[in-house]
Amino acid sequence: MPFLSDQLSRVKPSPTIAVTTKAGELKAAGRDVIGLGAGEPDFDTPDNIKQAAIAAINAGKTKYTAVDGLPELKRAICEKFKRENGLEYQPNQISVGTGGKQTLYNALVATLNPGDEVIIPAPYWVSYPDMVLLAGGEPVAVPCPMENAYKLTPEALEAAITPKTKWFIFNSPSNPTGAGYSRDELKALTDVLMRHPHVWVLTDDMYEHLVFDDFEFCTPAQVEPGLYDRTLTCNGVSKAYAMTGWRIGYAAGPVELIKAMAKIQSQSTSNPCTISQWAAVEALNGPQDYIGESRAAFQRRRNLVVEMLNAAPGVTCPVPEGAFYVYPDISGCIGKTSAGGAKITDDEAFATALLEETGVAVVFGAAFGLSPAFRVSYATSDEALKDACTRIQTFCKGLQ
Ligand SMILES: Cc1ncc(COP(=O)(O)O)c(C=O)c1O
Repeated sequence: MPFLSDQLSRVKPSPTIAVTTKAGELKAAGRDVIGLGAGEPDFDTPDNIKQAAIAAINAGKTKYTAVDGLPELKRAICEKFKRENGLEYQPNQISVGTGGKQTLYNALVATLNPGDEVIIPAPYWVSYPDMVLLAGGEPVAVPCPMENAYKLTPEALEAAITPKTKWFIFNSPSNPTGAGYSRDELKALTDVLMRHPHVWVLTDDMYEHLVFDDFEFCTPAQVEPGLYDRTLTCNGVSKAYAMTGWRIGYAAGPVELIKAMAKIQSQSTSNPCTISQWAAVEALNGPQDYIGESRAAFQRRRNLVVEMLNAAPGVTCPVPEGAFYVYPDISGCIGKTSAGGAKITDDEAFATALLEETGVAVVFGAAFGLSPAFRVSYATSDEALKDACTRIQTFCKGLQ
């Protein structure tokens, strides 16, 4: 009898973590490495949020809470949805988990049966397909090439839907491309979904607040109220308030689904960290200045990175609407040989040679399901970004 489960063999280890590990090893060996792999803001958590956590500890708020969240936090989340998204939810429609990751995972485990399909636009966040596999479902990746600004078209969505489709996962602005859907683009997708009442919508709005220029964020249940009863709207404090380590994510949706998610959480982790929940109450109810400040910094960095990458031969970098990633296409580099003698057969070979020859760590596109490309996280200092992009330019100029 094998010791490890069959389910586990369907899942691959996280490629983004592999890149970070490799970069860490090179750094430990004394190499000058710039990591552009990490998916977290480089800013500190705002002070009012830290103080709220300290106050919670001092007040003895250190015990278990209700499995899927404190009533105070659920109320703050309802307020947030009303204030920022025009969506009305009651506290019994809210689920709070240990990061957005847990709420997404709970939702999939609670609903997927063998053979159920989940539509995932590619490139995608690395965890979606593997979470679907762990939950026993079948991920259906739909390619969204750069020519379509890395966005799903209504035609491609329509073609991917089958009688077995249970969920459509939507993520705008996107990790890894930063692509954000305008209201009209999203409405075109929700029109398709209205014709297929068996398909549920799982929208991952984690990067809601990181949008640039005059881009207006919108979410499916807001654009098409007809989808409200079959939409799970997921969000969290990790990216919006530089709180990745606090591990608080949340979701809003139909009561039956929220109850099923709580059942899973009750038999796995129980409540997310109580102190972090109190910090999240302050994040959502307190001053919102941090959001504007981080948005301005990220917009400046996006502009810098896009301009410098487009100056690298063989690289085409679209201008994304949000998040803190860019996803340049490197079709023009494939088939060449680097100055260090590496054959650039695909985007993984590109990223490996780039790291070994220049010390810049990026994640190759195959990890996100669309090649040839790579992902840059620009959640790092302007100086480090300038240095890294100059090295990428030099590397690409050296390709023969
Ligand atoms: C698109 C997307 N969704 C969800 C998450 C999960 O965030 P967390 O579990 O920190 O709330 C991430 C984190 O990288 C992400 O990029």
